[in-house]
Amino acid sequence: TQAPVNVTVTGAAGQIGYALLFRIASGQLLGQDTPVKLRLLEIPQAVKAAEGTALELEDGAFPLLAGTDIFDDPKQAFEGTNVALLVGARPRTKGMERGDLLEANGGIFKPQGEAINAGAADDVKVLVVGNPANTNALIAQQHAPDVPAERFTAMTRLDHNRALAQLSKKLGVSVSDIRKLAIWGNHSATQYPNVFHAEVGGRNAAEAVGDEKWLADEFIPTVAKRGAAIIEARGASSAASAASAAIDHVYTWVNGTPEGDWTSAAVVSDGSYGVPEGLISSFPVTAKDGKYEIVQGLEINEFSRTRIDASVQELADERDAVRKLGLI
Ligand code: NAI
Repeated sequence: TQAPVNVTVTGAAGQIGYALLFRIASGQLLGQDTPVKLRLLEIPQAVKAAEGTALELEDGAFPLLAGTDIFDDPKQAFEGTNVALLVGARPRTKGMERGDLLEANGGIFKPQGEAINAGAADDVKVLVVGNPANTNALIAQQHAPDVPAERFTAMTRLDHNRALAQLSKKLGVSVSDIRKLAIWGNHSATQYPNVFHAEVGGRNAAEAVGDEKWLADEFIPTVAKRGAAIIEARGASSAASAASAAIDHVYTWVNGTPEGDWTSAAVVSDGSYGVPEGLISSFPVTAKDGKYEIVQGLEINEFSRTRIDASVQELADERDAVRKLGLI
């Protein structure tokens, strides 16, 4: 059998971590042929809770789990890591300005980027889940100059899955009948779920919907504000669905997208579609041979253009803010 793949999970004692770790251990992250070794990173106060989760992981008796190690030092946690899931972040608390939030997260993602640069395996793949995910990913990437930039991604797969679910309900079809949906821009309220390239049973999805007002006033806000709706209903933010999307993101990255379809991920822009080079923005992407690539040559209509531009502007503003703070 294969040597275990090292998977580092930060924020391992948090609620996403709790939902995520058991799915990794059961083989859903990388596939049923691949043993994994978990490396959990937490802040010192949460190490004990992470140890509790490690006891439960042991009790899962997962044949593919080759062991679990716990760290409070990023340098050690990212040593030899092949897949890094950066989940732990500083949430926005009451009265916190955007600048404070970016600064607090810079204090997390800068040292983590440096630690990945110093010690991760040559093939490391990084997924940032912790918010503000795109800009946290940018900060980490900027502090890992020896790692190819394309290995740093941020998660918009939950938004993608939410959009798939809403569209499938509207059209009364299964999610597996829908192809080529995509989230563009920032993982925030400005994100743009685009159905104009999507296909449903071979038909254009926007035509199948045939209701631009529904797209503008129902679909887009429902997808973009779903996080708030979950908090309102559950009294806690989405965790199991976020963990599920993280599994999907990495599984697709490693195993590829099916022929004739794509998915959504925030990746480093190469300047495509007018998105400034270097920003980590969501695009329609295909995956092949362990690489995500931006789908090229799509026509962008007026409806989409204004919405993509607004979300990308927000990303550029966040980048400028972290630059000003000296974080990149
Ligand atoms: P949580 O608060 O339950 O857990 C976060 C954990 O991170 C805590 O255990 C905390 O001790 C840990 N942590 C904080 N700083 C750390 C550091 N420097 N190193 C290692 N661990 C650290 O939060 P939850 O619900 O698990 O969410 C985690 C993040 O994911 C949040 O930022 C949330 O906004 C984000 N999120 C992103 C989504 C996306 O679609 N991109 C979807 C849902 C949540």
